Amino acid sequence: MVLKYKMMKKICLVTGGTSGIGFGILQNLLEQKDYQVISLSRSQTSINAAKQKLGQIAASVDFIQGDISIPEDCQKVQAYISQKYGRLDGLVNCAGIIKLGGIEKQTIDEWNNSINVNLTGSFILTQSLLDLLKQSSSASIVNISSMHSQKPGGSISYCVAKAGVDMLTKCLAQELSKYRIRVNSVNPGAVKTNIYLASGDYTEEELTRLMEARKETYPLGRIGDAKKDIGSMVEFLLSDKATWITGANIFIDGGISIK
Ligand SMILES: NC(=O)c1ccc[n+]([C@@H]2O[C@H](COP(=O)([O-])OP(=O)(O)OC[C@H]3O[C@@H](n4cnc5c(N)ncnc54)[C@H](OP(=O)(O)O)[C@@H]3O)[C@@H](O)[C@H]2O)c1
Repeated sequence: MVLKYKMMKKICLVTGGTSGIGFGILQNLLEQKDYQVISLSRSQTSINAAKQKLGQIAASVDFIQGDISIPEDCQKVQAYISQKYGRLDGLVNCAGIIKLGGIEKQTIDEWNNSINVNLTGSFILTQSLLDLLKQSSSASIVNISSMHSQKPGGSISYCVAKAGVDMLTKCLAQELSKYRIRVNSVNPGAVKTNIYLASGDYTEEELTRLMEARKETYPLGRIGDAKKDIGSMVEFLLSDKATWITGANIFIDGGISIK
């Protein structure tokens, strides 16, 4: 039996909700109390860590295990949400990875993996969840891109994938406007997260030094905060305060992209 969710809360899925920027977005949504939050990520370890950090409120979150780049996993997520809630009001495509290197260093496997997770994964998951989004009266998709979608540097596959995310956002916004589904991207500058540790490109110590050094280079004198800076913009775009905004790539980056 399909159980329709009767509460007025918006049903929102955040991919990568167990770490870094996704976790900040998830925390922000939980604080607003207007959202029923679902998180999708691959490892049980990251789910356990997020639950521990959240404490009691973790019980209200649906933590689903799956890989956004695997169509069967996305179908399972679709089935779960369909059965439990019957609709989806918000989709935040946040899960992502990075492997540093330009064309002289990066392997084809690293390139393919980056494009698969950072770009194709958002396409597959969005496609899988489209019918559920159509059931909402105010659906909003937010893709987490990067200031590197416009500014090369660091990782060639990452920059290219994120440029793709910006255009995916615009294409989806154009195509889905007939269903009144809004689609925008948020393009963050540097935020201290596990992304560089997960790739093995930096140790914890090196990452701390890198982020300290970045503070000096940012026009507004600091790096970003996942919950306050990124989470609040994502929440705004998901909310009914943003019902005339679609197809926008919104840079939240302390001014680094205009430096
Ligand atoms: N940190 C920055 O400075 C920065 C700046 C601009 C944009 N961004 C973007 O922000 C997003 C989040 O990055 P982050 O820095 O917060 O990284 P993070 O701390 O490493 O978090 C990544 C999250 O994504 C999940 N994930 C990774 N691959 C996945 C997959 N294939 N399927 C499902 N879940 C997956 C991870 O959990 P599991 O490992 O358990 O799957 C984790 O929850 C990314 O799109 C990134 O490009 C980050």
